Amino acid sequence: MRVPVHPAKSKLGQSAPTFWSVLQKIRHNGLEILPDQVVHAPVLSGRIAWQNWHMVMDPQIIHHITDTHVQNYPRSDLIRRVLEPAIGQGMFLSDGMEWLWQRHAAAPALGRHHFAGLKPKIKERANALCNRLEHAKGPSINIYHESVSVTFDLICRVLFSDIKVVDRDAMEHAFESYVSKSLGRAVLQTAGMPRWMGRVFSGAAPVTHMHDIIERLIHKRQADGPRDHPDMLDHLLAARHPKTGQVMPLETIRDNLITFMIAGHDTTAVTLAWALYLCSLDASVQDKIRQEAGLEPDAQTFTRQVIWETLRLYPPAAISSRTARGDDQIGNLKIAKGDLVLLPTYALHRHRAYWDAPDEFHPERFAGEGAHKIPAYMPFGHGPHSCIGARLAMGELAILLSTVLSRFRVSLTSGHVPDPVVTLTLHSRNGIWLELIPCDKTG
Ligand code: HEM
Repeated sequence: MRVPVHPAKSKLGQSAPTFWSVLQKIRHNGLEILPDQVVHAPVLSGRIAWQNWHMVMDPQIIHHITDTHVQNYPRSDLIRRVLEPAIGQGMFLSDGMEWLWQRHAAAPALGRHHFAGLKPKIKERANALCNRLEHAKGPSINIYHESVSVTFDLICRVLFSDIKVVDRDAMEHAFESYVSKSLGRAVLQTAGMPRWMGRVFSGAAPVTHMHDIIERLIHKRQADGPRDHPDMLDHLLAARHPKTGQVMPLETIRDNLITFMIAGHDTTAVTLAWALYLCSLDASVQDKIRQEAGLEPDAQTFTRQVIWETLRLYPPAAISSRTARGDDQIGNLKIAKGDLVLLPTYALHRHRAYWDAPDEFHPERFAGEGAHKIPAYMPFGHGPHSCIGARLAMGELAILLSTVLSRFRVSLTSGHVPDPVVTLTLHSRNGIWLELIPCDKTG
């Protein structure tokens, strides 16, 4: 019988959000916007200035919103205001036919067949990471910094067949600086500030910079022609609209590539870092993962349970949001046109009604075929807009986690307690500091 492990958890808010608390917290820790009743109640509703909001934790209502009535619940105006100038033409903010053909065009580059070709590259990058870790200075390492460099290389490989084509610092800096400027503006506009005032916070320069970087790569590929083994960029360039037969516009290709780049590397990097943190709390978990290191990712049963449990405790996309297109009634819940609906995955995953010992790290809760396919579990979302990169992410994570643990024993740096916060993804404000000892030196 294993000793229960209680890993770090985030502070939630003490009371319902107010206009000022949202404005203050959204850039520092979005989880503090959630009052602590979110892990007990099925739904919480309220109003901020002119905006009604509902936080929904009831899986049946979530199913209604994300699956059966998806047409009535597009992504929220709040998130649209933040992301539109940067990725407005891509699939993340599209719906209906426009969304569907983009999703179909991109799917092959993230599917099973493509993953088979990618596996040796993931293994190669995993070993390169371990070599770097072996030569790292000092006993303690912020593992997030190392994870993010590997996952960025891998997403570039998926998109462009090459790992050093985009400067990660430039791209991340541009995106973060843009989002931090536009979040405040989006909250103010959602609460009723006129649109023209938003221009003060426009953040246009970083967006132009990001667009330039990606457009240059698209033009170069158009000039060079497709690769022998088509990558994401080739698939998007080859796509034809099913009704008009037109090629995908440059802006749509560009915005999708930026979406995949942003959505596809930090999410995976934080998950790897949190998974190693959780493993550092229990040596027996590390041993079991080590035993699976040589297996195919689909056969790494226990490793996948650890990843699912990591995604339960620390879902990178911790809060999703929708805006109601029209009035709706779901059981006793009345939703009016324009209401903001928040889906706080972090709260759902720790909800007292759906989980035993919700704050404990217990990977075996996902033992058994399909144990992760339950309505109260949605790290990759639910319904047609759920994550298109889930298969890639799970395969990548299984290889990375088992390779690192096959080479090192991992322990938490003495005195370090991670501080989970949500800005873009759910990460640790003070990093995740671990000590790694090569297995061949521990006997
Ligand atoms: C551990 C890793 C990942 C997690 C936890 C994650 C989580 C999610 C979630 C929760 C959603 C749905 C959001 C919503 O409904 O509002 C989503 C959508 C999406 N994800 Fe991921 N994701 C991960 C990795 C990836 C990767 C590797 C890619 C691309 C290569 C990717 C691309 C996307 C895209 C494009 C969407 C929007 C899909 C659509 O609207 O049709 N994600 N992701």
